[in-house]
Amino acid sequence: MSNPLILGVESSCDETAAAVLRGRTILSNVIASQADIHREFGGVVPELASRHHLEQIDLVIDLALRRAGVALADLDAVAVTYGPGLVGSLLVGIQTAKAIAWVRGIPLLAVNHLEGHLRSVGLENEVIPAPVVNLVASGGHTGLYLLDEDDRIVRLARTRDDAAGEAFDKVAKLLGLGYPGGPIVDRLAPTGNDTAVPLPPPRMSDGSMDFSFSGFKTAVLRHAQAKGLQQPYPAPAEPSQEARDLLASFQTSVVEFMVRRLMTVADAQGARSVCLSGGVACNSRLRRRAAEEAQRAGMNFFAVSRDLAVDNAAMIAEVGRRLLLRGETAPLALNAEPGLEL
Ligand code: KG4
Ligand code: ZN
Repeated sequence: MSNPLILGVESSCDETAAAVLRGRTILSNVIASQADIHREFGGVVPELASRHHLEQIDLVIDLALRRAGVALADLDAVAVTYGPGLVGSLLVGIQTAKAIAWVRGIPLLAVNHLEGHLRSVGLENEVIPAPVVNLVASGGHTGLYLLDEDDRIVRLARTRDDAAGEAFDKVAKLLGLGYPGGPIVDRLAPTGNDTAVPLPPPRMSDGSMDFSFSGFKTAVLRHAQAKGLQQPYPAPAEPSQEARDLLASFQTSVVEFMVRRLMTVADAQGARSVCLSGGVACNSRLRRRAAEEAQRAGMNFFAVSRDLAVDNAAMIAEVGRRLLLRGETAPLALNAEPGLEL
């Protein structure tokens, strides 16, 4: 079974997603986002998320199979995210995948969502010269991972508080802008002066390469309070020039902090490639700056495409494919692990 037909299922947060892969080829990749629902509340409401997953999941899987031109009976295996994420949301995907595995008598593959983000870059780039240092930055997680010559994954840094995407979301919310905040900040930042508000990066007293974003968030809050820039959500008017300057300063400071960490660690590891993955990898400035610094360091640079950066099931099926090749199938007693780490 060198090119297995695998259905991937993802429901860890607010995207209900299903995808079909034949080998490494994506036959379909369907994502039903709940952003419109959670936008009303300025963030993900777990109870609503699980209910909407329940409503959507059968339709999404059906569409993924139809777009791929295959039937349930054709599948060789089903891969599902079992953590990290919201427990109620995870359970919807897990129960559905288990039902398919049981009814069809095919292997169930338990996928770590973070490994999905990490491997997403490899779906689009056949060869990524190792050692690789990959920045996984999403709404729930931020870390640096080494992929060595033997394809082993080693975590080199993590965040000590908020995730990068969470910081973008909170800053946008503070100024009364929408959800998710990352794309909004990305769009508005070029209309502001990014040197207007000094936001120094955190210093780790132990010299570690871990991330921390809460200091940026607090500094933005203080500045917004001092200048009267805070707005209830949703803001009644377009953001002022001062608000745009603050957003620009925030984005530049956070991006420079992440790029510096990424390049310092990549250098120390003797990396041949650096990668960006996770929803925050959509950020235009992060993509540009990381590409520039990688080129300067003589390293290969790969950023996941925007379609595969956000939560999707193609990356879940890809990790599933690797598990299947190694014979690492999951029992039907599989449970959700909301706090799973990588
Ligand atoms: O990977 P993802 O879809 O879901 C999680 O696993 O969390 O990431 C979502 C996060 C959100 O916090 C969102 O604001 C952020 O990715 N994001 C961005 C951009 N697009 C999405 N952050 C900065 N700039 C962007 N263009
Ligand atoms: Zn994610």
